[in-house]
Amino acid sequence: MSNYHIKHLEEYYGVYRKSIQKPEVFWEEVAEEHFLWRKRWDKVLSWDFNKPEIKWFEGAKLNITENCIDRHLTVRGDKTAILFEPNSPDEPAQHITYKELHERVNRFANVLKQEGIQKGDRVCIYLPMIPELAISVLACARIGAVHSVVFAGFSSTALSTRINDCEAKMVLTSDGSYRGAKTIDLKGIVDEALEDCSCVDTVLVAKRIQSDIQMKDGRDKWLQPLLDVASDQCEAEIMDAEDPLFILYTSGSTGMPKGMLHTTGGYMVYTAYTFKNVFQYDENDVYWCTADIGWITGHSYIVYGPLANGATTVMFEGVPSYPDMGRFWEIVEKHKVNQFYTAPTAIRALAKENLDFVEKYDLSSLKVLGSVGEPINEEAWHWYNDNVGKKKSPIVDTWWQTETGGIMISPIPFATPTKPTYATLPLPGINPSLMDENGIEIKGNQVDGRLCIKAPWPSIARSIWGNHQRYKDTYFSAYDNMYFTGDGALRDEVGYYRITGRVDDVIIVSGHNLGTAPIEDAVNEHQAVAESAIVGFPHDIKGNALYGYVILKETGETRNQDNLRKEINQIITEHIGPIAKLDKIQFTSGLPKTRSGKIMRRILRKIAGKDTSNLGDTSTLLNPEVVQEIIDNAL
Ligand code: PRX
Repeated sequence: MSNYHIKHLEEYYGVYRKSIQKPEVFWEEVAEEHFLWRKRWDKVLSWDFNKPEIKWFEGAKLNITENCIDRHLTVRGDKTAILFEPNSPDEPAQHITYKELHERVNRFANVLKQEGIQKGDRVCIYLPMIPELAISVLACARIGAVHSVVFAGFSSTALSTRINDCEAKMVLTSDGSYRGAKTIDLKGIVDEALEDCSCVDTVLVAKRIQSDIQMKDGRDKWLQPLLDVASDQCEAEIMDAEDPLFILYTSGSTGMPKGMLHTTGGYMVYTAYTFKNVFQYDENDVYWCTADIGWITGHSYIVYGPLANGATTVMFEGVPSYPDMGRFWEIVEKHKVNQFYTAPTAIRALAKENLDFVEKYDLSSLKVLGSVGEPINEEAWHWYNDNVGKKKSPIVDTWWQTETGGIMISPIPFATPTKPTYATLPLPGINPSLMDENGIEIKGNQVDGRLCIKAPWPSIARSIWGNHQRYKDTYFSAYDNMYFTGDGALRDEVGYYRITGRVDDVIIVSGHNLGTAPIEDAVNEHQAVAESAIVGFPHDIKGNALYGYVILKETGETRNQDNLRKEINQIITEHIGPIAKLDKIQFTSGLPKTRSGKIMRRILRKIAGKDTSNLGDTSTLLNPEVVQEIIDNAL
């Protein structure tokens, strides 16, 4: 029986049982046999969900880049590590071998050091999906700097909030980015953000679109000339297993985005282990995850998990619709992709198009298809299975979160029979439970409840940067001695899990986590707005879209409502980014409130979803009359 690579269902059950009964023994064996440690751990695991404090492989020393790069050099130095596919199909792809990756990461690491970055310093990375993004992530890890990648679709305000929260000393960016037929002025966004960030000393700028940009004296430097003269040898900083590796921000239901802090040893072991099993990666496979490295999916399953297994990982700069809706499949054919991992939103958008876009291409290389980020509906699942996988490539519907660091519930292809819309079974080491609203565990099958996890796994986030109390309050306070995911789930008759969606005020739009409170704060910035409430409603392609109820101030506002809607969305774009724009904005004279003044979002959600049949008892509201007005004017 192999602990590391599960191939059959019986093997899964055996490994799973062992992992739950004896987690320390199980993870110790995995860690020992498959990774390069500079010093062995003193203790595999210590934990206390009440503090909360979680430590894996305490006392061990390692550098994650030695595991992701150096140790592959003798066996697969000339193998492609990163296969870069540019935005334009006319620009040649780049095959970066493990040897080249080693040199480029070392050069970059030396530049970081020379520019004053030391172990423990935070570096904010705001780059498009070009090789420098993956390389800079690894360069930070090489020298023990903590990377904080901010998705390059976020606005300057969102960027400055994140830079200030982690007090980054340096920002890495580019002169701009390509996105389909458009170019985006990333450097301009950074300049704007930095007007509010006194912590940043240096900005290093990669050239991508050759645009004419402003360079601020004493702060901004072009990256390439520095790389050209840097040494390609850089000794790896030896880190403690529990030293921080990165901070990645995710939206909460209220307040500031949460800087989830991930540490080194456990994160490496878990992402590598899950990559191997969930994608059944074999040595000569080409693996492609279409996410952006700005999200956790990109961190764990474009960079760290694949490289720790010596895989070839595709990095795609562009979008699925450029130059046409066949781009994904063109790339699969061109690079003979074996494992393809994407989001339901992309699948739904492509499924709306003519089948010719898929059928034109040879997709016979595909072995495993993945889905992540939001529930996949039955129709999209079948379209993916029939037209992309041709019914021969199992679909792995992978459930996990920024906080979990790695995939938690997923089929193991060729072992776990799949079932549409079900993430199926927990991976080894993951012990889920469903809880009711009174904090009682719901046992047995054919039940639903709130999804919790009973014990730590190696890649669980260890804290929220700068706010450990919030970490405790958000994840460990709802239920005694459990990690609370914020998701609802049901368990079917054979114990398969289906994730039903968020049970808090986080809305998943096109696979992106959006908290309602920060969007409401942005809307309320508009001078004509008195109050607002944002809810989600079902959307064919995006899964959920945003619906805003807005009360205007009584200022005799005469502006056209459509203009107001545009202005409100403009403010949201400036504060958060275009992904948080509202699809519908309804102006209303009031919002349904409880007697304690709390907005009854349940009612607003139902109206937005055009389901007004059962609104429940509204008579206890402070202002029941407003409900009818909202229904009458619903969009
Ligand atoms: O609600 C769940 C949903 O996405 C949330 C986590 O979002 P984020 O931290 O951005 O990470 C996304 C990529 C890992 C979860 O709480 N979610 C994620 N995967 C699935 C999912 N919902 C249903 N099915 C999934 N496979």
